[in-house]
Amino acid sequence: MWGGRFSRGPAAIMEEINASIDIDRRLWREDIAGSKAHVSMLAAAGIITEADRTAIEKGLDQIAEEIESGAFQFSKTLEDIHMNIEARLKDIIGEPAGRLHTARSRNDQVATDFRLWVRRACDETQTALTILMRALAAKAADHANAVMPGFTHLQTAQPVTLGHHLLAYVEMFARDASRFADARKRMNESPLGAAALAGTAFPIDRTATATALGFDRPCANSLDAVSSRDFAMEALAAASLTATHLSRLAEELVLWTSPHFGFASLSDKFSTGSSIMPQKRNPDAAELVRAKAGRIIASLNNLLIVMKGLPLAYAKDMQEDKAATFEGFDALALALAATAGMINDMTPHRDAMKEAATRGYSTATDIADWLVRALNTPFRDAHHVTGAIVALAERKGVTLDKLSLADMRSIDPRITQDVYSVLSVEASAASRVSYGGTAPDNVKREANRWLAQNMTA
Ligand code: ARG
Repeated sequence: MWGGRFSRGPAAIMEEINASIDIDRRLWREDIAGSKAHVSMLAAAGIITEADRTAIEKGLDQIAEEIESGAFQFSKTLEDIHMNIEARLKDIIGEPAGRLHTARSRNDQVATDFRLWVRRACDETQTALTILMRALAAKAADHANAVMPGFTHLQTAQPVTLGHHLLAYVEMFARDASRFADARKRMNESPLGAAALAGTAFPIDRTATATALGFDRPCANSLDAVSSRDFAMEALAAASLTATHLSRLAEELVLWTSPHFGFASLSDKFSTGSSIMPQKRNPDAAELVRAKAGRIIASLNNLLIVMKGLPLAYAKDMQEDKAATFEGFDALALALAATAGMINDMTPHRDAMKEAATRGYSTATDIADWLVRALNTPFRDAHHVTGAIVALAERKGVTLDKLSLADMRSIDPRITQDVYSVLSVEASAASRVSYGGTAPDNVKREANRWLAQNMTA
């Protein structure tokens, strides 16, 4: 394709480092779509004949079939997907194939293909996020009133409900989905027609090719069009935040399903055994989701590091963009699907969660609040009194609701029997009716609100 000024071929190792076909063959759909948009614009502008256009389109359709069926022979010598397709086009249709690349360069071609790919990846990620959010919201609706311990510092803090806990993740994933939607809007400009870097002298219609490929408009600057990859980095940044959320949820699944917590179990479908310890049920999928975050965040770092310091316009460094981005999105797709699967599969153990919620003096704050409400004690004093009550309960080895009224009164003689009404974990959770609080009625309403919407931003 570019051998005219060369008298001999590349060294084997040159070919090895230069070829990207093993990676970028995944762009074949986008490459053919881009070529079709380009060729029909060239014909409409009178730059090539209708006959050439028809021949090229037919040839591209045949190539699509060959790739789809596995018959296509990819060649490393032809470097990348663009030259593999163009060379095959020449085999099939002969001379008109050579007119396809008029007013185009591989620089705008690959930038276009890659944007189309990342745009689709963003759309697919949003769909996958929606599926996961539905799974979480449905579980939350089923367990809107299932009391569990809420933690800070992984120490028992206050009772919450499982539904509330799961809906916290729905909020995170909704923001993630909106980040992909936002990135998509910004990336949706067409590089095609920027040519190598400077634009072209041919009377091309960049708006026509942009529209044909579903872009909102052409990129306004040809140098920017061929040398920017911030669209991919922005998408990978959204992917990294999603991965961070997924890994936190995965970590909780690991904790909850361990026998020490026993808050939930995963069925055989999402557990694995040990080859030596017959009793084991390991949450491997959750652990791998937790770890996939490493790959996804690494892919963002990888591309940031490749791009930093690159002078305008195109440099071959940028060929490495695809391996990083494909790896990040492949890992994300797997992690999202596995997490949705685990959430659907998960059986919460409501009794164990409730039992755990009663441990750790989780309703101590409710006593302090009661002292404020019933006795008009300033909160700071109430906190102090309650601390003494907890210390007493600890000395006696009982939970707060098992401490006698006489014991309570030994610390503050004004305490009445009414304090016991706030000591159960259910009463504690049910009392959190403030906006965004964990009261089961709130949670039910929120779960239904999520389930009623289509969940995309
Ligand atoms: N395979 C190349 C890439 O992925 C295509 C662009 C090549 N352009 C060039 N001037 N060598 O970046």
